[in-house]
Amino acid sequence: MSEEVFKKVVSHAKEYGFVFPSSEIYDGLGAVYDYGQNGVELKNNLRQYWWKAMVQMHENIVGLDAAIFMHPKTWKASGHIDGFSDPMIDNKDSKKRYRADNLLEDKITRYQKDGKTIKADELQAALDQALLDNNLVQLKALIEQHEIVCPISGTRNWTDVRQFNLMFATEMGAMAEDADKVYLRPETAQGIFVNFLNVQKTGRMKIPFGIAQTGKAFRNEIIARQFIMRMREFEQMEMQFFIRPSTQKEWYEHWKAARMAWHEKLGFGSAKYRFHDHVKLAHYADAAVDIEFDYPFGFKEMEGIHSRTDFDLKNHQELSGKKLQYFDAELDENGKAYGNYIPYVIETSIGLDRLFLATLCASFKEEEVGEGEKKDTRVVLNLPPILAPYKVAILPLLKKDGLPEVAREIMKDLKTDYNCFYEEKDAIGKRYRRQDALGTPFCITIDHESLENKTVTIRYRDTMVQERIGISQIREILAKEISWGKLLS
Ligand code: GAP
Repeated sequence: MSEEVFKKVVSHAKEYGFVFPSSEIYDGLGAVYDYGQNGVELKNNLRQYWWKAMVQMHENIVGLDAAIFMHPKTWKASGHIDGFSDPMIDNKDSKKRYRADNLLEDKITRYQKDGKTIKADELQAALDQALLDNNLVQLKALIEQHEIVCPISGTRNWTDVRQFNLMFATEMGAMAEDADKVYLRPETAQGIFVNFLNVQKTGRMKIPFGIAQTGKAFRNEIIARQFIMRMREFEQMEMQFFIRPSTQKEWYEHWKAARMAWHEKLGFGSAKYRFHDHVKLAHYADAAVDIEFDYPFGFKEMEGIHSRTDFDLKNHQELSGKKLQYFDAELDENGKAYGNYIPYVIETSIGLDRLFLATLCASFKEEEVGEGEKKDTRVVLNLPPILAPYKVAILPLLKKDGLPEVAREIMKDLKTDYNCFYEEKDAIGKRYRRQDALGTPFCITIDHESLENKTVTIRYRDTMVQERIGISQIREILAKEISWGKLLS
């Protein structure tokens, strides 16, 4: 899929009520988006797929919904106050700010496109080393050596590279003078860490066990790129899996495989995914890998799996002065009790918006249909039926002769179990196209024959095949095709 098709996906998302720029009437707000009437349904379904797979399918994983605001010390303990920053550089002429590593990555891509692979490899290695050493002077030197110009001003008049913290701060309290500085959480994970013992004790959880949560996270990203790929307000779905120290390697491999299998179940093809090991590890990790998706603009991170050691719990214990230890009554191979320890953690962390974008890109198809004079193109979203915003469209052929009444009866029966779309305006072909574009897997059409013999036509989105079936058969067909079991078993 090319950049050109990506543009089509973005305009499709707007035209069909999936994603709108935030506060659009005021010309939008950078890197902030709203989900429309169909987007919210797809997003809810994707979240549910994750929740069911991670929580419902695991007896030893439970959920949590922690607050966005947390005690400011949380972010000291987690390392975000001191270490959650990006290396930034400003162009003095355009006054535009860029991530230094992104400028260099773009240059590497250009070298690759021009067939200068040796130069690309050399620059990649130098960039990796500079990031690993956190060497800001070297990043600036690379920008100068490779004659990188500002895309706006076209000049090489750069400032030094500086670290820029990505957390949004605000004040809590009535009076500015005695208000406390609080942060909008940059990850949901810390809500899990600070509740680790609450959940473990009240849920009588035994190691290994996990806590999962979904929710908003906020980062003051400097570079807003590629639609909902890099946002300032986004949603994460994270799970922290608490384990015995020194078992992290085996659990890391376990979750790598489990998460990849979860993605592949969506049916978009395994070639769309790959692992990418981190060279530069985050401040909390002793191993980390991304699951990358083949977006129209190339393979990019969709999910991270991190071996977080005991970094977070240890720091929270130290800063809060509260013991965050687990008592393990089981015996090791020498018959000795494991006793008290701070658990190690494997984290799986996926951005819901990136998953949404991947799903939209992978399911978006433009197809030639019909022949001769009837030749046409249709846009269709080949979504797994259980994820589609609407499962069934109910379409009386005409707005008269008692057809809407029969259609309404069918709708009344189905809507308790399936999200249904009712429409009686426009020619039936036009209505089918609109449902294809929303990804609705089934259309039920009610015509005059329905009045005579209690039958309807069912149309299948992917094949466009139409079948005459009894009204009494509708539920049976839907139940067979629309089920979580297809994704979860
Ligand atoms: N708790 C670990 C953590 O937050 P991360 O790699 O910084 O790790 C995890 O983020 C996931 O969150 C990423 O893989 C990505 O899917 C999503 N994500 C991160 N920043 C994002 C942004 N600015 N916009 C959209 N999604 C983002």
